[in-house]
Amino acid sequence: MLNFINQLPKAELHLHIEGTFEPELMFAIAKRNNIEIKYNSIEEIREAYNFNCLQDFLDIYYAGAAVLIHEQDFYDLTWSYLEKCAEQNVRHTEIMFDPQTHTKRGVSFETIINGISRACKNAELKLNVSSLLIMSYLRHLSEEEAFETLQESLPYKHLIKAVGLDSSEKGNPPSKFKNVFEASVKEGYIPVAHAGEEGPASYIWEALDILKIKRIDHGNNCFEDELIKEIIARDIALTVCPLSNTALKVVDDLKYHPVKRMIELGLKVTINSDDPAYFGGQVNTNYIELQKALGLTKDDLYEFAKNSFQYSLLEEDIKRERLQELELFFEDHQ
Ligand code: ADE
Ligand code: ZN
Repeated sequence: MLNFINQLPKAELHLHIEGTFEPELMFAIAKRNNIEIKYNSIEEIREAYNFNCLQDFLDIYYAGAAVLIHEQDFYDLTWSYLEKCAEQNVRHTEIMFDPQTHTKRGVSFETIINGISRACKNAELKLNVSSLLIMSYLRHLSEEEAFETLQESLPYKHLIKAVGLDSSEKGNPPSKFKNVFEASVKEGYIPVAHAGEEGPASYIWEALDILKIKRIDHGNNCFEDELIKEIIARDIALTVCPLSNTALKVVDDLKYHPVKRMIELGLKVTINSDDPAYFGGQVNTNYIELQKALGLTKDDLYEFAKNSFQYSLLEEDIKRERLQELELFFEDHQ
């Protein structure tokens, strides 16, 4: 099973680049930028990764991201993640980045996007991993600030495929961002959003009806008959993040993870790492731990991988190629 998961061609659809920041690289970048961080060792950093809720994590995550200053920092962060993709046979990844986390500190949009997209281009050539970018608005900030970010992004529109919505969910419903999502779609960005991670089912409804999202990030709190019916009718996938859910106490134990119920109800599920440096595992570890906890079959895992390509934002011809590659693998590894 371990080999099967490691070799399974897959896509990752829910990944925050700032959440891939391993303590070793954080220390190295802090040092070269002459920035003090409040931890004395890598062990001390890891000990701090003990969260009771989403906000506990976000406070530490934003503090960590504050050492990223130069284009090369964003390049190194992204390249390091893409190398891990290649090792795990992640053939395609859709990377979220939070421009406001950096522009608020005086780092330019250009610095961020150039560093990240240069690493992505290089990975396509050297690692055979394809990628695209999802610019995420921070929902604890105002819609006006999201509009400023949209404006800043326009010269780099050709490098960005989609817009997302992340950060503190409770008290920040999707409806708060109605106008900026409408404007983003007009600019050609595809809308996705975190919904129903800690927030209620009504936030998922708002994300669908008001933001018109094409994919639900998390969606754990989707268990209402009418909502399930609607998600299925619209053929929308959920980007589920098992180890994130246990790390942030969204789920008590993987044994009780709702993913099995989701599958049984006919929902389209993909498996992802969210913020792998903080939650104890890359995407393959998420597959492995979930398989062990729920006794999933190779068919179940194949279905997750299939959904990951099917519900990616790849162009149809490339999507078909990736799906064929997966099918050939599965015929050989049943
Ligand atoms: N930003 C990074 N990870 C996140 C998560 N799991 N939920 C909301 N915002 C995030
Ligand atoms: Zn997320």
